[in-house]
Amino acid sequence: MPKTIIISNRLPIKVQRTEEGLAYETSEGGLATGLGSIYKEGDNIWIGWPGTYFDDEAEQQQVRKDLSNQSMRPVFLTEAEIRDFYEGFSNETLWPTFHYFTQYAIYESEFWEAYESVNFKFCKAVMENAEPGDTIWVHDYQLLLLPSLIRKELPDSSIGFFQHIPFPSYEVFRLLPWREQILKGMLGSDLIGFHTYDDARHFLSAVSRIVGLNSSQGVIDNGFRSIMVDAFPMGIDYEKYASMAASEGTIAKKEEYRHALPEQKIILSIDRLDYSKGIPQRLLAYELFLKENPEFHGRVTLSMVVVPSRDQVEQYKELKETIDELVGRINSSYRTITWNPIQYFYRSFPLEDLSAMYSIADIALVTPMRDGMNLVCKEYIASKLDKKGVLILSEMAGASRELADAVLINPNDLGQMVQAIRTSLLMSEEEQMLRMDHMQDIVRRYNIHHWVKIFMNRLEFIKMKQLSMA
Ligand code: UDP
Ligand code: G6P
Repeated sequence: MPKTIIISNRLPIKVQRTEEGLAYETSEGGLATGLGSIYKEGDNIWIGWPGTYFDDEAEQQQVRKDLSNQSMRPVFLTEAEIRDFYEGFSNETLWPTFHYFTQYAIYESEFWEAYESVNFKFCKAVMENAEPGDTIWVHDYQLLLLPSLIRKELPDSSIGFFQHIPFPSYEVFRLLPWREQILKGMLGSDLIGFHTYDDARHFLSAVSRIVGLNSSQGVIDNGFRSIMVDAFPMGIDYEKYASMAASEGTIAKKEEYRHALPEQKIILSIDRLDYSKGIPQRLLAYELFLKENPEFHGRVTLSMVVVPSRDQVEQYKELKETIDELVGRINSSYRTITWNPIQYFYRSFPLEDLSAMYSIADIALVTPMRDGMNLVCKEYIASKLDKKGVLILSEMAGASRELADAVLINPNDLGQMVQAIRTSLLMSEEEQMLRMDHMQDIVRRYNIHHWVKIFMNRLEFIKMKQLSMA
């Protein structure tokens, strides 16, 4: 029976070494949480890195065996590959460039060579697992060369590619010295998906100007095959979040939180530690809000979860210090014996805790400088069973294209963010419920199952079209 092979750099489970032995935990990040609940259908498998360096053969065997029971196939990275491919080219070259933080981008040929060789390594893992008729679905910016490497080995296979982060405009993309190889790598796919039409348009424009291939209605003809490019806004497992919010565990946790923060309006902020998320700007807006609105002192708490991420990368280390300092400054300036303006957590939480935080929050403050989609805001919406709560959302998140009933802000406009916090705190329950109802309709309908179905149908369609033109 043909299967789907999902390939991403990070597996949905990360393996850690503890004193008691190997521990398996859920990975953070939208790709892993989004696809994590659906990939296990049929004989499908997921190929990726388990998140830790293992040099011991016996340990690798153990990880291989444990993950294989959960339909996963690990690709082990060496220390040098973690440094040059993962932290280096993926997160110090591509991530900043694709998020328009070009001032942080490092262009280093050693990083590029590691990127090429790890993409080869992933290709080898695909070859070990692929059988005729399988559908191959490659994910995200760490594996942009993989579609064309697989195409060389399996010329007739169905290859889909989805990018979970933005695709920048040509003017930014062309800064990359390896721009042509990267585009040609992606063009090994039959279908290339992005979260938004703007991302798809930017990609098509880069292909036309750098590779010289034009498109018609989102279809590129490279002389051998038609390649389709389109927008597929990713959804979440709506029922999982809605039913989790109704569960006894979440309700009990919610009461615990309410007890700890009596009569407080709760503003929730949840992200991986990342400069693309605009965390310092958000803190500055909250500080200014407190300065300008003394009547809210003692009545509002910013509950801020920052999940550790990529902590060996310099920019991330610096960001951590900036956030620590800002939180310290705001709390020490405004706190009283009985009130702390910010509850700051530098750690990750299990789903049940997140669910309780989403359900209890009066406001979700989601203000990235750039974000491919942002699933946190959709999870908040799905968790609001009583429909009370306001979403403040950055225009720079892919999700803002779908969620017009959020209070939309530009994260560079501090004054607007301050005003949005005030407006949201004062919004009537009727208006909150009306807006939430509209947003729930959208997030429920365009859920993760719908997303997978549409993507797979489109992939099938383009393969049929290729056959009919052959
Ligand atoms: N998340 C998590 N544990 C936490 C906090 C967040 O698993 O303690 C999850 C969150 O539920 C969401 C994902 O991490 O599904 C973040 O995805 P998003 O698309 O918002 O941003 P990304 O991290 O992919 O840039
Ligand atoms: C974003 C990216 C994913 C990545 C995740 C976590 O969601 O789109 O590809 O897995 O962040 O980042 P990490 O570097 O820990 O894998």
